[in-house]
Amino acid sequence: MTRSSRLAGFYKLTMDARRREIGRQCGFDPERLAEPLLDEATANHMVENVISVYGLPLGVALNFQVNGRDVLVPMCVEEPSVIAAASNAAKMIREGGGFRAEADEPIMISQVQLTDVPDPEAARRAIDAHADEIIEIANAAYPNLLARGGGTRGVEARILEGATALTGGMLAVHLYIDCRDAMGANLVNTIAEAVAPRLAELAAGQVGLRILSNLCDRRCVRVTARIPAAALRSANHTGEQVRDGIVSASRFAELDPYRAATHNKGIMNGVDAVVMATGNDWRGVEAGAHAFASRLGKGGGYGPLCTWRVGEDGALEGRIELPLAVGTVGGTLRVHPGARLALEILGVQHADQLGMVMAAAGMASNLAALRALATDGIQRGHMSMHARTVALHVGATGELVERVASELAALGDVRADVAAQILARLQGGARQRAQG
Ligand code: MEV
Repeated sequence: MTRSSRLAGFYKLTMDARRREIGRQCGFDPERLAEPLLDEATANHMVENVISVYGLPLGVALNFQVNGRDVLVPMCVEEPSVIAAASNAAKMIREGGGFRAEADEPIMISQVQLTDVPDPEAARRAIDAHADEIIEIANAAYPNLLARGGGTRGVEARILEGATALTGGMLAVHLYIDCRDAMGANLVNTIAEAVAPRLAELAAGQVGLRILSNLCDRRCVRVTARIPAAALRSANHTGEQVRDGIVSASRFAELDPYRAATHNKGIMNGVDAVVMATGNDWRGVEAGAHAFASRLGKGGGYGPLCTWRVGEDGALEGRIELPLAVGTVGGTLRVHPGARLALEILGVQHADQLGMVMAAAGMASNLAALRALATDGIQRGHMSMHARTVALHVGATGELVERVASELAALGDVRADVAAQILARLQGGARQRAQG
C-alpha cells in the first residue's frame, strides 16, 4: 500500500489510535507495536551480562516526502521536540517539492596496516601490480557477497608519511568493498584478515591492524531541498527574514568550528534517531559524520554537514552530504524485532534508500533548529517539551501530563516544585469532582 505521511492531528490521537493508523498505513497488525520490541531472551543473546532491557521512546516523524515518495520516519530518541521539529520542517520542505536525494554505491573501506616496510614505494608498486590477485583472495573470503551482487572493487596502497623508527615504513592498504544492503562491518573485517598475509608478503613487512574505516567517504548520501520563503514565516517574522536568518546561521557554522559542532549535533538529532530505530550502529555513523565534517570548514577544518543559501528565485536552498554506513540486512536487524518493524514502517528494502531518509531527517532537524534559533530562540519551543518531562517527573499521569505541562509552560517557570504544586491542585480538583 502507498503510504501517506500527511497525517493531520496524529499527535492528538491516543497511542493506541496512532498504532492503528500506522498499522493501517504500513499494512501490519498494530498489536505488534504494543508488544515489547525487544524481549529479554533475545536481549540476552545480543550482548553480555544482560540484566534488563532498556527502553527509549519510538515515535514517527510525519510529512516526509523523499524523491516523490511519502515516507513515515520512525525515530528512537530521548530528547523532546526532535520528532515534532523534524515533522514541522519536513512540512515546509514538502511545500517546495520535498527532499531530493541520491546515494553513492555502498562502498566500505577495509584497512590493512602494514608496518616495518623497508621500501614503502616498492611495496606500493608490488601491491598495485597484484591488485587482481588481492581482489580474488578478498572475494573468495566472502562468496555470499558476490552472490548478492557485491564484492571487492579495488585496492589502493597508501604510504603513511612520518612513520617512526618503532614502526618502520608504514602503509595503509585500502580495499574498496561493495557491501550491497549490509552495513558491512563483519564482512569488511573478514576480508581485511583474509588478504593481510599476502599484502605483508608483497610489502616485505608485518601485518598490523585489519579493520574497516568508519570514514566511509565513498558511501555518501546527498540531499537537497528548496523551500519557498513564504513557507518559512513565523508569528513574528516574514518568510524572507527567517530565510536570511537561516543563511546567516549557515555562514556562522561554515566560519566557526565551535558553532559547526552544535549545528552538526542538531543534524545528528535526526540522523541518529532513525539509525537507532532501525537497529544500526550509531557510533559508527557518528564517527563517520564528524570525520567527514572535519574537512568541510573554510580553510579545510571542521565544518557543517548541511548548508543553506538563497536561490535565484528567492527560495531557501539546502544541501546536506554525509557518509552513512547503514544496512537493511544482517547485524542487529537479524535479531531485533523493533528494528525490523521500523524498516517496515519506512517501507524501504535497500540500504541506500534508508541512508537517503536518514540524511533527509538530518536536514529537517537542522532546518527546524536554525529556524527557531534565527527567530524566537530555541528555548520557547524547548520549554513546552521540557515542561512535559518535568510533569512526568513529579508523577503526573494520563491527561494530567499535558495539563501540568501547559500550565508550567504558560508560567515560563519550568521547575519541579512548581510542577508538583500544579499537579497537587489539579489532582485535588479531580478528587473533589469524583466525590461530588
Ligand atoms: C539541540 O539538541 C540541537 C541544537 O543545539 C542544534 C543547533 O544549535 O543548531 C538546537
